[in-house]
Amino acid sequence: MNACVDTDNQHHIHQDCSVSPSPTHVFAVTSGKGGVGKTNVVANLAAALALARKRVMVIDADLGLANLDLFLGVTPQYTLADFFAGTRALTDVIIPGRLGIALLPAASGVQEVTSLSGEQKISFLTELDALTHRMDVVLVDTGSGISDTVTYFAAAAQEIIVVVTPEPSALADAYALVKVLVSTHQEKRFWILANNVENEREAARLYDTLSRMALRFLNASLDFLGWIPRDRELVRAVARCQMVMTTAPQSPAARAFMVVAHRLAGAVAAEARVKGCPQFFFRRILAVAGKKGWET
Ligand SMILES: Nc1ncnc2c1ncn2[C@@H]1O[C@H](COP(=O)(O)OP(=O)(O)O)[C@@H](O)[C@H]1O
Ligand SMILES: [Mg+2]
Repeated sequence: MNACVDTDNQHHIHQDCSVSPSPTHVFAVTSGKGGVGKTNVVANLAAALALARKRVMVIDADLGLANLDLFLGVTPQYTLADFFAGTRALTDVIIPGRLGIALLPAASGVQEVTSLSGEQKISFLTELDALTHRMDVVLVDTGSGISDTVTYFAAAAQEIIVVVTPEPSALADAYALVKVLVSTHQEKRFWILANNVENEREAARLYDTLSRMALRFLNASLDFLGWIPRDRELVRAVARCQMVMTTAPQSPAARAFMVVAHRLAGAVAAEARVKGCPQFFFRRILAVAGKKGWET
């Protein structure tokens, strides 16, 4: 039995197919380098949005280290792979975690997108569409690096959040990721979130360096989403498989997550430019798989 699991969360979401009045927004949270704080960003932003009464779904698509479930206090019984195997409905795969945040454990199923039949694809998209329409925001933990699965997810989302830290290699790796997304997926817009920084000045310096390089060499525009300070409370929360948003809501990191969540919610509300709905998000993933010649 996992010590990080809240057993009272272990019931499943049931589909009511009601359509939300505003379109769901999908943000991919990604990074060039591992260990920069993506999973904490996804979990804590989801928590901040949930506390602000937004309906939030998180998708764990990190093939390397799928651990969002720990922060949400649940042990998924099924993954997207079970849905693709035809043994479970998506409603059985998606489970509610802490604060009612819905989790889609996707890491072990995403690769199987490549071997779906046309009929399976339609059934997947139809079920997913009905479920995600009930959400205000979907956050995807993509894992790090420039592998195909990371970049598929980032490119398929409406918005891309790139997490960077002050480590020198994090900046170089973030630039490499942006470069791949620009050159192979024609992405032009990115949000930069500086994490684990000393203060706002350090965050601004990171953003300035990266955005100047991206504009000059890639003709890509980077927007500053905000910054999360280095905070011992966050490390303490991680050790307890918790989100700092709930263990220490007055800590500097938690307050910063709240600010960033408000900015995200504001961007969602103001956003007239819509690249696609979640169904489109998965359609794009499937389309990329098809292009690679993996379709059956
Ligand atoms: N703002 C922060 N303050 C202090 N430590 C942090 C912060 N963000 C991340 N960390 C540290 O980095 C570790 C890795 O974070 P994680 O979210 O798992 O990264 P990723 O998902 O990018 O691999 C955390 O367990 C924590 O120790
Ligand atoms: Mg992670």
